[in-house]
Amino acid sequence: MARIIGGVATTHVPSIGKAIAENKQNDPYWKPFFKGFDYVHYWLAREKPDVAVVFYNDHGLNFFLDKLPTFAVGAAKEYRNEDEGWGIPVSRAIAGDSALSWHLINVLVADEFDITMCQDLLVDHAVTIPMTLMWPGQRWSIRIVPVAINTVQHPLPSLARRLKLGRSIGRAIESYDQDLRVVMIGTGGLSHQLDGKRAGFINKEFDRLCMDKIVNEPEALTRYSIHDWVEEAGAQGVEFLNWMAMRGALTGHVTEVHRNYHIPISNTAAATVVLENREEAKRKAA
Ligand code: DHB
Ligand code: FE
Repeated sequence: MARIIGGVATTHVPSIGKAIAENKQNDPYWKPFFKGFDYVHYWLAREKPDVAVVFYNDHGLNFFLDKLPTFAVGAAKEYRNEDEGWGIPVSRAIAGDSALSWHLINVLVADEFDITMCQDLLVDHAVTIPMTLMWPGQRWSIRIVPVAINTVQHPLPSLARRLKLGRSIGRAIESYDQDLRVVMIGTGGLSHQLDGKRAGFINKEFDRLCMDKIVNEPEALTRYSIHDWVEEAGAQGVEFLNWMAMRGALTGHVTEVHRNYHIPISNTAAATVVLENREEAKRKAA
């Protein structure tokens, strides 16, 4: 049976790709951020996931305002990136796991999620930057199932809905008849606003609250509406909602094993969190 080993949440600011391409990891500006990945590398080397389910938001590379699904699940053999205009290198392609994708799609539709299924899907910096941060300078042996959630065109799906989507995916993985170790990834956030009067807005207190609550009380965050969230976290701070889906997919006993918070990277409060998921602990407690 497949096992969910835990979740990694990280920001996906494109300029990180430029810093990597220019080898700036040890520059004073970047060091406190990149240092936060030492533990992530140790944890991934120890836990050895085979597959990652990546909850992210597309920023206009594959989906645009003309057609924007609320939830889209990749079911391709491979996911390519293209030049998005950020001045960062185009990422190499990432292998898919289409058998797992179709299993997740079947369970999601049975659970009444009307998702869009994508046998051809370009993935943008919200997937490639976290992959590059988590597995730097390596050939990627990990396969992914990308799950794109709309955080661009309002109305956006609520926090509660995203938590439920994650839970459905978590249950689907638990029932998957393959011996796989699965890591959940949530990308984006934390507080940031890229345009308008509040460009550069960051809310440290709210970010801390989110990082605290996501561990064991994610439901407590569902009392915020999307409009509250824009108010508290900035227009693009809604990307934290991808973290909610990641957290929903952790079905066992969850503990925070790592956190790094650094402001700012570009316009964004950059956060990296590792959550461990222990099924045994859940069974013992039951
Ligand atoms: C930035 C942050 C994002 O989440 C993004 O998608 C693009 C840019 C930034 O802070 O520069
Ligand atoms: Fe973004």
